[in-house]
Amino acid sequence: MPKYVITAKRKLAPRVNWFRIQAPLIARRAQPGQFVIVRLHEKGERIPLTLFDWNANEGFIELVVQEVGKTTMEMGRYNVGDHVLNITGPLGNPTHIDMYGVVVIVCGGVGSAVCYPVAKALRERGNKVISIIGFRTRELVILEEEFRRISDEVIVTTDDGSYGVKGFTTDALRSLLESGVKPGLVYTAGPVIMMKKVAEITRRHGVLTYASLNPIMVDGTGMCGACRVTVEGRTVFACVDGPDFDAHKVDFDELAKRLAQYTEEERIALEKYLNTVSRGG
Ligand SMILES: Cc1cc2nc3c(=O)[nH]c(=O)nc-3n(C[C@H](O)[C@H](O)[C@H](O)COP(=O)(O)OP(=O)(O)OC[C@H]3O[C@@H](n4cnc5c(N)ncnc54)[C@H](O)[C@@H]3O)c2cc1C
Ligand code: FES
Repeated sequence: MPKYVITAKRKLAPRVNWFRIQAPLIARRAQPGQFVIVRLHEKGERIPLTLFDWNANEGFIELVVQEVGKTTMEMGRYNVGDHVLNITGPLGNPTHIDMYGVVVIVCGGVGSAVCYPVAKALRERGNKVISIIGFRTRELVILEEEFRRISDEVIVTTDDGSYGVKGFTTDALRSLLESGVKPGLVYTAGPVIMMKKVAEITRRHGVLTYASLNPIMVDGTGMCGACRVTVEGRTVFACVDGPDFDAHKVDFDELAKRLAQYTEEERIALEKYLNTVSRGG
């Protein structure tokens, strides 16, 4: 009897799927900010995915997965009743949930799935939560309703202005801080370039900022260093020391470089996979 059965699936946007998966042991221990490592089948690689939500009583976890390459596209073809071979977790340190007063959440694209459980927990703790969720265009907007339920204010941005406020999340953040809002914390997840810009803006305003980092991971348990990042000049492993770090101390340029190091292999793997799929494999 396979353990990790998919019991629900929903398409949130083109190439973004939400999955509910039976995983009672993980659901019992999950905390906001943590992630799992998923391996789809015997030949699959291990990929990290954030715990979007979970229910300990009913024994399920929820993941939001954007199709960016071979494994995530393969997962996109999984349906209700299918099962995932391995899920390891919960992994990483939970986000430090405290009373900060006003908290601004800044997330780009699928980073919104990473921020959601953290935003929810910070609100439950009594913080005023302002969520800025940004997407390239209208059809890619996800989780707006979910954020509205757990935020005091939601600002949706699109790069092209096709929905919500035109511009980047960082433009909305800058306006907010310049209008006199004084958050005790800014929490961010999304593309590296966005997190880097968020850190530059909040540094100028002296606002504590945590970024949830997304380096390449293999084991996810501190054994290999694939996920290493430089924070305040020190090498740390994001899977066990993070994934949250003080954004003002992170070397984002190095993170971007390391994320691009397998681009050619990733392209070849995807091409091979798409060929197999088109041949009906
Ligand atoms: C702690 C953590 C939590 C994550 N949570 C989520 C999540 O909840 N939902 C989600 O959709 N994705 C999440 N990611 C990113 C996800 O792991 C990658 O998108 C996935 O590994 C890509 O695998 P692939 O084989 O489909 O693509 P690949 O062929 O490996 O890569 C395709 C493209 O995606 C980029 N990429 C690869 N790995 C990552 C990565 N770790 N982060 C960002 N870009 C990457 C590559 O540079 C490349 O451009 C998370 C990553 C980390 C480290
Ligand atoms: S993924 Fe291997 S040490 Fe973090």
